[in-house]
Amino acid sequence: MERYILSLDEGTTSARAIIFDRESDIPGIGQYEFPQHYPRPGWVEHNPEEIWEAQMRAIKTAIERAKIEPNQIAAIGVTNQRETTIVWDRSGRPLYNAIVWQCRRTAEMVEEIKREYGNIIKEKTGLVPDAYFSASKLKWLFDNVPGLREKAEKGEVLFGTVDTFLIYRLTGEHVTDYSNASRTMLFNIRRLEWDDELLEIFDIPESVFPEVRESSEVYGYTKKELLGAEIPVSGDAGDQQAALFGQAAFETGMVKATYGTGSFILANTGKMVRYSENLLTTIAWGLNGKVSYALEGSIFVTGAAVQWLRDGIKIIKSAAETEELAAKLESNEGVYFVPAFVGLGAPYWDQFARGLIIGITRSTGREHFARATLEAIAYLTRDVVEEMEKLVGIKELRVDGGATANDFLMQFQADILNRRVIRPVVKETTALGAAYLAGLAVDYWSGLDEIKSLWKAERVFEPKMDEETRERLYRGWKEAVKRAMSWAKV
Ligand code: G3P
Repeated sequence: MERYILSLDEGTTSARAIIFDRESDIPGIGQYEFPQHYPRPGWVEHNPEEIWEAQMRAIKTAIERAKIEPNQIAAIGVTNQRETTIVWDRSGRPLYNAIVWQCRRTAEMVEEIKREYGNIIKEKTGLVPDAYFSASKLKWLFDNVPGLREKAEKGEVLFGTVDTFLIYRLTGEHVTDYSNASRTMLFNIRRLEWDDELLEIFDIPESVFPEVRESSEVYGYTKKELLGAEIPVSGDAGDQQAALFGQAAFETGMVKATYGTGSFILANTGKMVRYSENLLTTIAWGLNGKVSYALEGSIFVTGAAVQWLRDGIKIIKSAAETEELAAKLESNEGVYFVPAFVGLGAPYWDQFARGLIIGITRSTGREHFARATLEAIAYLTRDVVEEMEKLVGIKELRVDGGATANDFLMQFQADILNRRVIRPVVKETTALGAAYLAGLAVDYWSGLDEIKSLWKAERVFEPKMDEETRERLYRGWKEAVKRAMSWAKV
């Protein structure tokens, strides 16, 4: 009987389930979107029940499409939108909506905490204090949901990121992995434990925390009534770390960029905890008794800017159209777009930056907007890679995510970085990483060497741009960013 690995990739807008075989081919995928809730401007919530429903439907669809039986699934791996914060009771019932990583409701709270404890937080968690991470979201829940604190004192409240919620529902175990824990801003990434001092600063009761485990080990078995089989759940990692794993970026200095709604660039730093002023230090994964670290540049808006061209100002019909439009121009003709819709993340960390388009003349048209948007994605990536370079040598960039289908963007990325950009054959890198982690725990794959041998490049983009052009373009970008900074304060 042929055996498979099921990977659950629970993202910000949809839940996916992907079935992989030993060669990392994909016999079946299920994917369902779930609603986004915006109760106030800048607030973003998900209903955990809607996430769960979409996830279960996706699993059933994937199994059906792959034409397999649940007992052919050797293991399940979970990967997830990170930081998003959920509290539930022991029966698995959510006690409030999930507060999503993008939600800015706690921005002011964090500004205040940052003033006093910024350095301690950075040193212990590796993170630049921001509303992005779980800590302030969880504090907000305790400060605002009536009765939650009393319930927690009785040991009736469980907290977790989305991986933890799904694994709890699937198996009844309250666990997370090092990579997800490292995004809460409550986890000490050197001592590898929930940090008492941070719990005090954020005033969070200790009883709510999941046990933190390695990213590849059996956490529990699926309850029989869910899928008709008791399947080991044995892989767990935040989606960006899972993508790094799926890219087989196991050695120090290997870098991946995932282009989604935002872009997330991670450099493996191995067992070294490297601190950068403007990047995040995070745990990549825990595996075979060891923890690997990474440097991360989180860019909040990249693909979302293309979506804005399509759904906001409606100057394109599909994202793919940007490729053709951009290629109509020889150059950007001085037009730059800084897509700072929600402020700027790495390496600027300016909550008050706002979007800007500059350099417009009477001859500016749709194609300039398209080109400036794609170029911005590449410049933002260079901003992050430049910061990383101060700490680790970087030879090339492995890429994944929707926008990597755009050849114009990939070539421009290689040009502006002056480095090779490599697109792999398997584009489902995030789900694949979680599948690998799950499969390794049950000996489905033999080890990292086998996984390395499975990774194959589909296309390599070599840098072709001359240095003068490259640096002139990038200088223009830096000038545009300067003008976008702090705009909401004006
Ligand atoms: O940190 C947020 C990140 O994990 C979200 O990823 O792919 O769900 O947008 P995605």
